[in-house]
Amino acid sequence: MTNAQSSHPPRKGIVLAGGSGTRLHPMTLASSKQMLPVYDKPMIYYPLSTLMLAGIRDIMVISTPQDLPQFRRLLGDGSQYGVSFSYREQPTPDGIAQAFIIAEDWIDGASCALILGDNLIFADHLAQILQKSARLEHGATVFAYQVRDPERYGVVSFAPDGTAMDIVEKPRSPLSNWAVTGLYFYDARVCEFASRLAPSPRGELEITDLNMIYLQERSLRVEPLGRGCAWLDAGMPDSLIQAGTFVQTIQSRQGMLIGSPAEVAFRMGYIDAEQLRHWAGRMIKTELGRTLYAIAGGQ
Ligand code: TTP
Repeated sequence: MTNAQSSHPPRKGIVLAGGSGTRLHPMTLASSKQMLPVYDKPMIYYPLSTLMLAGIRDIMVISTPQDLPQFRRLLGDGSQYGVSFSYREQPTPDGIAQAFIIAEDWIDGASCALILGDNLIFADHLAQILQKSARLEHGATVFAYQVRDPERYGVVSFAPDGTAMDIVEKPRSPLSNWAVTGLYFYDARVCEFASRLAPSPRGELEITDLNMIYLQERSLRVEPLGRGCAWLDAGMPDSLIQAGTFVQTIQSRQGMLIGSPAEVAFRMGYIDAEQLRHWAGRMIKTELGRTLYAIAGGQ
């Protein structure tokens, strides 16, 4: 680490796991969307693993007052993964960018990443892509992915030279099919920028408006995720089952895990083999537990 880097407080990360999940009713009438299973793990494991893979060890989970206690019960203080988890309520779903108002004192002038609790990202070399974004100290980085239904997302349009020109939230006539994914890296000014936002006509503090502040000062990097990547948002019955099938296919075919915070913790050196074995032992009746045990070099 260089001196310039070490003078900055360590980067923090937020998993935003609130919302109303109306597109998954009745499954989400009595339970949080981000607690639903994606094949063999709760949904929140996937975005959590992504932040941990980026090298982030100080993570806040933000959710509704009703659901937050379950996340605390599921994830604890993070020590089992060699990281630290904090928890905070979002009283009502007033927009994704509100996370930076809610967490401002905890962020405490650090740079901060945000991932939506229902976003699953898989890619070759994902760790390198994420760690590069996490190292940048000025500006923001978002990721764009080509989709068939861009009108559901924030859509980015590019100039002929490839630089991002504009981002429009849920456009009726999208100018491109590049959707902005639910993973964002921001510099230390993010809370100040978020405090300048006013609610949109639908009453939310929009993440697209926050990204536009960075875009307008030309410090927004938009990294395209190509063919070798999968970005899934598990917010509807079809996408939920597609995500589960995807994870099942890769895991059973390749014997590799997707979205396991314990495996990421071990590979990143946050915990050692003994700690991973201990953790795996708690779920040894499952294929997941046995795979983790084998990764830890167990017999
Ligand atoms: P959405 O999918 O836009 O909303 P939702 O989860 O409430 O679902 P639905 O549209 O079916 O009613 O939210 C994207 C993610 O961001 C999701 O993980 C929930 C989260 N979120 C919050 O935690 N707080 C918020 O204020 C908003 C708008 C979203």
